[in-house]
Amino acid sequence: MKFTVAAGRLTDRKEPLLLGVLEGKELPPWAAQWTDPIRKAVLELLKSKRFQGKLNETFLLPVQSRWLILVGAGKKEELTLDRVRQAAATASRRALAGGFETFARGLVSVPKAGPDQAAQAVTEGTILGTYRFDELKNIPPGEKRVLKEVILVVPSPRDKSAAQAGVRRGQAIAESVGWARDMVNRPSNRLTPALMAREAQRAARRFGFRCRVLGPAQMRRIGMNAVLAVARGSREPSRFIIVEYKGKGARNRRPLAWLGKGITFDSGGISIKPADKMEQMKYDMAGGAAVLGAVRAAAALALPIHVVGLVPATENLPGGSAQKPGDVVRGLGGKTIEVINTDAEGRLVLADALAYGQRFKPEAMVDLATLTGACVVALGSHAMGLMGSDDALIEEVKAAADRSGERAWPLPLWPEYGEAIKSEVADLKNVGDGKAGTITAGYFLKEFAGKTPWVHLDIAGLAWADGEKGYLRKGATGVGVRLLVELASRWKRR
Ligand code: BES
Ligand code: ZN
Ligand code: ZN
Repeated sequence: MKFTVAAGRLTDRKEPLLLGVLEGKELPPWAAQWTDPIRKAVLELLKSKRFQGKLNETFLLPVQSRWLILVGAGKKEELTLDRVRQAAATASRRALAGGFETFARGLVSVPKAGPDQAAQAVTEGTILGTYRFDELKNIPPGEKRVLKEVILVVPSPRDKSAAQAGVRRGQAIAESVGWARDMVNRPSNRLTPALMAREAQRAARRFGFRCRVLGPAQMRRIGMNAVLAVARGSREPSRFIIVEYKGKGARNRRPLAWLGKGITFDSGGISIKPADKMEQMKYDMAGGAAVLGAVRAAAALALPIHVVGLVPATENLPGGSAQKPGDVVRGLGGKTIEVINTDAEGRLVLADALAYGQRFKPEAMVDLATLTGACVVALGSHAMGLMGSDDALIEEVKAAADRSGERAWPLPLWPEYGEAIKSEVADLKNVGDGKAGTITAGYFLKEFAGKTPWVHLDIAGLAWADGEKGYLRKGATGVGVRLLVELASRWKRR
């Protein structure tokens, strides 16, 4: 898909036009750019109420033998960059469904946002909204429709370079999100821990960052026993993926560490899950994919930061040598863990990753994980759970979440919650008392983060979309990539 930025009047273009419309009976401010016949036709349509401009509403309208693809952007007072991203996605999908492979569109003006940010949101929405996971389907040649070109028209030549910069940024980010989505969508036989590591290595070569992969033998040598304990039930060898990107101007800086749960399939292990929807548990590596995707984007954007990404990757299966409820493991951090429930495996692999992360003396650690079903109950699919050990870092991650449109909501980690994970026989146990499951999981992780400022994001409710919505397609969402890139973009030295 090609993006071209052009200066001039949108309606002077000869391509089909994509027009954003606000909810109500009036034309949006940017309609000042439209020709009279187009203004008249859209006003009439709004009056007829067959199209109201509600967010993500679409309408195909021919005017003077040209096609207008209308998309609602919702109420004027509620217009945000994320709504622009959504509307761009819905409109692009509508265009594609209607057989339009090329169209021209303008930039909408969003309060408190520049043309660069608007262009970025439009680009991300267009790419993410038309994303498809079809690599495992036999599609007859000629039947695959793709968007060829989007022409972004800015009224003033002054805004052209800002819009171009926004487009480039949007492309780098959305392509990294798409790459993360591909990995998450792949079933576990197509994305094993080894194949996930290979993907990371290929991206590292292409975008110029480092990638080192530890296999089971090396993990055993250094004492990553919690990852290995989870891996025991599977024939598929585990991997510990380490990526590192150091931008110009970040030479002597301690890194920011990102950690992601990389369970390529979670059957629950001996504490096996019910069969219903178990196939979805291929997405239990979405945190890991987000970390790799964000490092890829940071490198593609040449951000002036130093970042390390860590992904413990393994399957969680009930094999003959699988770990069993009641087993005790001593992880890399030295603490002993009683494994009450083998389905609480994410916190085990992350415990080792958090311990390993401290070797880099990072300024901060942020982990992402599809960690608990309880988080889906608490926050649904509209926000991830946010917990941490450092108030300033929590605020910073929350702000990055708001800016990126990938929302996060804080939950407390008061010491009282720690009572639930005390064990009779070991330092800790891997499940709580059935209450506040997201928090007790977060508390468990906190025990392994040491003194490093740390934040945990539970993305269980956001990593997979059950249906089409805005820029989300059914399946993997790639959530976390945009949030981490936002965080990195404004990261200040500690
Ligand atoms: N991967 C799951 C969490 C999950 C559930 C993610 C639903 C996405 C959707 C995790 O490993 C798990 O099984 N957690 C258990 C923990 C429990 C045994 C304490 C859970 O949430 O039930
Ligand atoms: Zn599990
Ligand atoms: Zn899991």
